[in-house]
Amino acid sequence: MFRFLVILILLAGCRPSPERRHFRIGFSQCGEADHWRRSMLAEMQRELSFHPGISLIYKQADDNSGLQVKQVRELLAEGIDLLIISPNEARPLTPVVEEVFNRGIPVIVVDRKIASTSYTNYIGADNYEIGRIAGEYVAALLKGKGNVIEVVGLPASSPAIERKRGFQDGIRRHPGIRMLQQVHGDWVQQKSEAALDSISSFLPRADLVFAHNDVMAMGARQACNRAGARSTKIIGVDALPGKGAGLEMVSGKVLDASLLYPTGGTEAIRNAISILNKTALPKETFLQTLVVDSTNVRMMQLQTDKILNQQKDIELQQGMIAEQLRVYKSQRTMLYVLGITLGAAVIFAGLLWYSRNLNKQINRKLALQNEEISRQSKQLIAMSEAAAQANEARITFFTNISHEIRTPLTLIIGPLDEILQHSRMHGSERQQLSLVRKNASRLLHLVNQLMDFRKLEFNKMQVRASENDLVLFCHEIVEIFQQIARQRGIDCRLVTSERSLPVWMDTGMMDKVLFNLMSNAFKFTPDQGAVLIKLEKRDEEAVIQVQDTGIGMSAEVMQHAFDIFYQGDVDNHKGSGLGLALCKELVQLHHGTISASSGKNRGTIFTISLPLGNRHFEPGELHGSTGREEPQLYTAELLPVADEPGEQAKLDKRFVILLVEDNPELRSFIRHRLSEEYEVLEAENGQQGLQMAFEYLPDGIICDVMMPVKDGHALLKEIKADVRTAHIPVVLLTARVTPDQQVEGLQNKADAYILKPFDFKILQHTLTSLLANRSHLKEHFTADIPAGLRNTASRRSDLRFVSEFTSIVENNIGNEEFSIEDIYRQMNISKVQLYRKVKALMGTNVNEYILNARLQKARYFLQHQEYSVAEVAYKTGFSSPAYFSTVFRNKLGISPTMFKGKNKG
Ligand code: FRU
Repeated sequence: MFRFLVILILLAGCRPSPERRHFRIGFSQCGEADHWRRSMLAEMQRELSFHPGISLIYKQADDNSGLQVKQVRELLAEGIDLLIISPNEARPLTPVVEEVFNRGIPVIVVDRKIASTSYTNYIGADNYEIGRIAGEYVAALLKGKGNVIEVVGLPASSPAIERKRGFQDGIRRHPGIRMLQQVHGDWVQQKSEAALDSISSFLPRADLVFAHNDVMAMGARQACNRAGARSTKIIGVDALPGKGAGLEMVSGKVLDASLLYPTGGTEAIRNAISILNKTALPKETFLQTLVVDSTNVRMMQLQTDKILNQQKDIELQQGMIAEQLRVYKSQRTMLYVLGITLGAAVIFAGLLWYSRNLNKQINRKLALQNEEISRQSKQLIAMSEAAAQANEARITFFTNISHEIRTPLTLIIGPLDEILQHSRMHGSERQQLSLVRKNASRLLHLVNQLMDFRKLEFNKMQVRASENDLVLFCHEIVEIFQQIARQRGIDCRLVTSERSLPVWMDTGMMDKVLFNLMSNAFKFTPDQGAVLIKLEKRDEEAVIQVQDTGIGMSAEVMQHAFDIFYQGDVDNHKGSGLGLALCKELVQLHHGTISASSGKNRGTIFTISLPLGNRHFEPGELHGSTGREEPQLYTAELLPVADEPGEQAKLDKRFVILLVEDNPELRSFIRHRLSEEYEVLEAENGQQGLQMAFEYLPDGIICDVMMPVKDGHALLKEIKADVRTAHIPVVLLTARVTPDQQVEGLQNKADAYILKPFDFKILQHTLTSLLANRSHLKEHFTADIPAGLRNTASRRSDLRFVSEFTSIVENNIGNEEFSIEDIYRQMNISKVQLYRKVKALMGTNVNEYILNARLQKARYFLQHQEYSVAEVAYKTGFSSPAYFSTVFRNKLGISPTMFKGKNKG
């Protein structure tokens, strides 16, 4: 683009020019007071207008030779290519002209000469010839006889010298012509007039005055007129056209004749251009002269007028040309601009086309890349989905495998506990079994920790923080370890000056952390040592320290203490490498820090800092708590000896428990343990369990969650939705420990939720307390309903059952034919269901209830109505008054007749 513009500008600069280069011509004029000098300048300028490449520097010296010398030097200093000079006087100007000439600057001398030949060209008419012609003409005009006066020009100027000489020579051949006087007019009218006035006495005698130029001739006319010499003939030189000039004076008879003396302005410029263009010229250029008098003045005037008109035309045309040139120039400029714009437009169009193509190419490339990227991202999405599925599968696998591991562990730990509690085993047998129990617990603990890690790894473990009193929390943990501490003589205490310290935390997670640290401390602390939990509030943090007097850790072990699977260097106490790593992760989930300081045999201090308040938790992390840790998993492995058999609460074996469990071994284990206190019914899946629940209406149901055909939740839902079974307490047993599943169980109104592997004692206690609650409920049906029981749906359905049953009995109290069959038919349940439900809810059997109801009514009638004993007997459904009296006396210890007599009134 730029290159194109440069070429265009260069082409514009190469247009043809009339002058190859620009010249400066200096023009030194002796003066400009008269018309002749001004004409010379006008002619030169007119001629120059044809040569725009040449400029003229003009200076005039007011007829002063000294000034003219100075001006020539100025021209020289300004830098001129050629000098045109009309010197005022010959000699004074000669040196400066020679100097110019000698510098190699061409010099053209016009009209007046210098006193040397150091010039390039002279232009002018032959002044000697002018003088001689004038002499001849005067002789002819005066017919060879007469007196003449001569008015001479500036004596030191060459035309004056030469004209004077020529005139003398001209009249010398005519002896009748006598030179009366010669005066100096110095080329100026006033001077001529003054000089002639001074010889006015001669004027009347003079026949003719010859003045060297027309202006001095005019002065002569004035002087002659004043002297009364009106007939004196007067001749001048110049014969200029124009107003008041020579030709007009001749035609107006002011002068009798004038000799043509051309200014030579046109020729001076023409010769200058020739010289500047190195064209050879003759040294002298002589201009023609002629006498203008009354015989030819008219013709001369016509000619000069014509020339003047032509000159005006030329000037006009030049003006027009200049205007055209201006228009041409502006149009040319416009054209250039248009050309450049067009060129630029073409170039831009080209660039546009090029960049569009480039864009298309890039777009095509980008589209391809885009396709590739979206293909890859689809692949990535598919891969990540597959990875997510695989991860999910891994978690499920881990959960399931842990379930699979936990179930056999339950079957190991459960019977072991039973043997350890009940058998009379002693010494090494008990010790070995304790060791088995301890390691089974340890294995379970490890499985739990491994699962926690998996959950952490897949971000499935979420903090569920609630506000807890950390003092109380730590106190509970210390309490749990008290038994072991007592047995091993270890000083185990909570040391704190805080009365309470509210901290937002997930109690399940913090249980894990503190149990881990405490069980570590106990592991590595010898008997009679100390394990302390220190608690304090520092600024905006709660600081928990677990401090022991154990064997401590080396610097290297310290460095890796929190690394997963790092097992330390203590041979007999090698850890799994999970506990501390898990602690660190869990503390970090609380935005806290955990650190250790220790030294070989100097004990260890673990320090946990937890930020106070709850602003560091996400809103979703602020509710509930994950399941709390089972302390025996930590403490069991620390116990040095086997547990002593515990006190077993004996329960009423009249309760029937339905056990729904798909694992035959676990089922048989639980049945075996429960059958001492309860009558146990067994079902191997949810469907079977449900049928049996309806059939036998057990007093309690123990049910696994994960089962084939129908799972525990489905069973629970149906049991609790049916009026016949809603009252039965259900205990869910499961290894699935997610909070969601716990919530699901509780939403379906599970009465208790026990995590596998469970301590059998917990199951026993749970059952005892649930069955005891049922007993309370039974009491309610014989008294007022406690307010606290009114809200739960299962209680409501129980009430519905009881009220339906009692109202049927009430309505049939006088019906002798009324039987139990009428009741279960009306209630649309089986006989067994009726029996079990009435027993469960009301603590009585159906027949007894009906009998009691009849007796109650009978008591009422006897007390408040005027019925006879016989009437009361029939009204209350007894077949005979005798049978009524027997039953009444047996039950109440008094005969109806006596009762009536006693209570009447
Ligand atoms: C003009 C003039 C002319 C004369 C010439 C002689 O200044 O006086 O009238 O012919 O100079 O140089």
